[in-house]
Amino acid sequence: MPNITYVHPDGRTETVNARVGDSAMSTAMQSGVDGIVGECGGGLVCATCHVYIDDSWMDKVGSAAADEDEMLEGVAAERRPNSRLSCQIKINDALDGLVLQLPDRQF
Ligand code: FES
Repeated sequence: MPNITYVHPDGRTETVNARVGDSAMSTAMQSGVDGIVGECGGGLVCATCHVYIDDSWMDKVGSAAADEDEMLEGVAAERRPNSRLSCQIKINDALDGLVLQLPDRQF
């Protein structure tokens, strides 16, 4: 099972086991990691699952598709070049060790 590490704005980290095929959003929610709201349940209509991809993982995670890119315009915290919506990041074995930084707010 791939491990995903979520980094809170205060520097606290939580590393959890993820199921291949789940999203980084649902993994956080099922594991009790706060800081991701996921209000729409992954439907790509809320932008409350915003994360920042750690620089070293940008290539493996890839960039947002056009519809996600549009939704990223509506995130509450600062949008950065490494911003993604975590409901659109599907976990696979190549993402074992992935580090995602959580923004300071989702609303
Ligand atoms: Fe709503 Fe990701 S959970 S856009």
